[in-house]
Amino acid sequence: MVMKLHISKHFKGLRAFFSLLLVVNFLGYSTPLSAQEEPAEAAVAEDAGGAIDGKSLFESSCAACHKADARDKKLVGPGLKDARKTWKEKVKIPDLIYTWVVNPNKAAATGDPYVKELLNYDGSAMTPQPFSKEEIDAIFDYVDAYTPPASTGDPAGAVAAAEEEDNSTWWIVIGIMFMIVAVSAGSFRRQLRNAMREKNGKEKLADRSYLDVLKEWAWRNKKLAAMIFILVFIMGMGEVWDRLYGIGVYTGYHPEQPIDFPHSVHAGLNEIDCQYCHSSASKSKHAGIPSVNVCMNCHKGIEGSSEPAKAQIAKIYEAAGFDSETKAYTKEPKPIQWVKVHNLPDHVYFPHAQHVSVAGVECQTCHGEVEKMGTVKQFAPLTMGWCVTCHNETEVALTNNGAYYDEIHRRLLKDKSLYQQYLEDDIVTVRELGGWECVKCHY
Ligand code: HEC
Ligand code: HEC
Ligand code: HEC
Ligand code: HEC
Ligand code: HEC
Ligand code: HEC
Repeated sequence: MVMKLHISKHFKGLRAFFSLLLVVNFLGYSTPLSAQEEPAEAAVAEDAGGAIDGKSLFESSCAACHKADARDKKLVGPGLKDARKTWKEKVKIPDLIYTWVVNPNKAAATGDPYVKELLNYDGSAMTPQPFSKEEIDAIFDYVDAYTPPASTGDPAGAVAAAEEEDNSTWWIVIGIMFMIVAVSAGSFRRQLRNAMREKNGKEKLADRSYLDVLKEWAWRNKKLAAMIFILVFIMGMGEVWDRLYGIGVYTGYHPEQPIDFPHSVHAGLNEIDCQYCHSSASKSKHAGIPSVNVCMNCHKGIEGSSEPAKAQIAKIYEAAGFDSETKAYTKEPKPIQWVKVHNLPDHVYFPHAQHVSVAGVECQTCHGEVEKMGTVKQFAPLTMGWCVTCHNETEVALTNNGAYYDEIHRRLLKDKSLYQQYLEDDIVTVRELGGWECVKCHY
């Protein structure tokens, strides 16, 4: 009797424990979408610049020519890490580095030997950068604090993934521990009861299989058993959910390309329109990668002003079969084998034109700040969750928004029930126009 009381008291505690687990589990799975869309590099920007954002200044004004890395890591100019320190040690005139950034010629005119030496640096000359001392300091603060990322994947994501895995291991361990407790509690009770029967001269109870014990136990503890069943079921569904939303997430994917084509120099520094090169983005399903002829429109004349640039641009000439000495197409052309960065599975249909031309979504919304990148790095997760979240949240204007929407608007106005369904609240989302229908996105 005492024993029984004792055990049922334990079970009350266990019951409370499992209710808690249930709630925790629900919370854990309720936010998988927002968690995925956390930009991977947010942490780097935070602590560097203070009020002035050194990172974005560096990326928009210096990154085309400088790496945020050691001096020998050359781009067009030297890497800028610890440049401030170097100048403090080697340059006699204090704060000349600020003069240099704002106006290199003025700094050179001082005749300082370090600066004289610097002018022999075989890159194109540095262009004047009109920034205040505070802004320049913010840039150097960012550069000095910057650590180049490891080459594979993004570390933040990897850590998060590892933590998640730890988590599920814990669930399994807790589950197994619970089974052991339940089974041994059952068999302990049976042994106790058999001992009592033996003492009273009765026959022993028959040995039963664990399954029988489990069944009997579940029958006696219906509520707890149901709770455990639901818990296991939800964990299973959570696993399926994670698979659906998580499989093939390649945010941050950044393959090596046959030519180091810097978007920062073309779309950034030289402000070439995205659609000059990706001209089919507004007209068809694909945005397309430009052929080598498009590169040659400019590069027939632009051979590059630094050694590394020349080496890369020579690869364009090779692909075009162009002889840069004679300025003639004399050789066999070979197409450039660009590596595709964004890859949706074959069963998904994604139309660029509908997003770019009809809906007017900016390239950057889905691809990030490409104009600050070198070769392209995947920005969005490209999961189904990502697509349907945006379709659920994005509102479209049905009036003054082009012929496509005028037509839909007219249709809605004609049909009273449709009108009430969609226009009554004055908000029409992509989802309401069919953006959640499986067949819109799946072949
Ligand atoms: C158009 C290319 C270009 C841009 C843009 C550019 N630089 Fe430079 N920078 C150079 C080159 C090239 C040199 C090497 C000296 C030379 O040849 O003029 C240099 C040298 C420097 C040096 C001296 C480095 C050393 O090792 O002593 C500093 C400091 C510097 N740049 C800072 C900046 C900052 C800060 C920015 C952005 C606000 C910037 N640069 C933007 C091309 C550039
Ligand atoms: C001078 C031509 C040119 C311009 C201008 C240009 N791009 Fe590109 N883009 C390319 C080339 C070449 C590639 C292939 C190399 C690579 O993936 O980095 C590419 C690749 C891409 C990719 C990755 C494609 C893939 O494989 O998944 C995206 C996304 C992209 N560009 C977006 C943009 C955006 C957005 C802009 C405007 C801000 C832009 N591009 C401007 C030439 C250009
Ligand atoms: C609504 C999101 C979205 C917008 C807006 C968008 N893209 Fe894309 N882009 C994608 C997706 C998704 C893919 C992958 C397509 C695939 O694999 O079939 C892609 C692929 C690409 C590619 C690889 C080649 C191709 O056609 O598959 C290039 C280049 C590209 N986009 C450039 C651009 C440019 C330039 C713009 C702006 C004019 C733009 N994108 C606007 C989502 C978008
Ligand atoms: C509208 C003109 C234009 C087009 C089109 C163009 N480029 Fe360029 N490109 C430039 C300019 C300007 C520079 C800067 C040259 C310099 O001074 O180094 C440049 C520089 C480069 C560099 C050297 C970058 C560096 O500093 O390391 C490479 C590589 C390059 N382009 C590749 C390409 C490829 C590949 C294409 C075709 C997909 C292309 N470009 C199309 C104008 C263009
Ligand atoms: C940044 C928000 C955004 C993202 C991300 C996005 N879409 Fe869209 N999508 C839109 C908007 C806005 C429309 C225009 C609605 C319309 O057709 O009137 C649209 C329309 C579409 C349409 C046409 C629907 C129709 O009615 O014809 C398809 C198909 C589509 N999206 C597929 C996708 C797929 C697949 C993805 C993910 C790979 C995706 N979208 C990601 C905003 C987005
Ligand atoms: C707005 C576009 C969009 C809509 C609407 C949509 N899907 Fe998807 N779906 C996608 C994309 C994109 C992927 C690829 C995800 C990936 O590769 O991670 C995908 C993948 C899938 C997969 C394969 C999962 C995997 O891991 O490869 C299934 C199954 C699926 N969708 C079913 C559906 C069903 C059922 C519906 C209707 C209720 C639906 N989808 C509606 C965009 C969409």
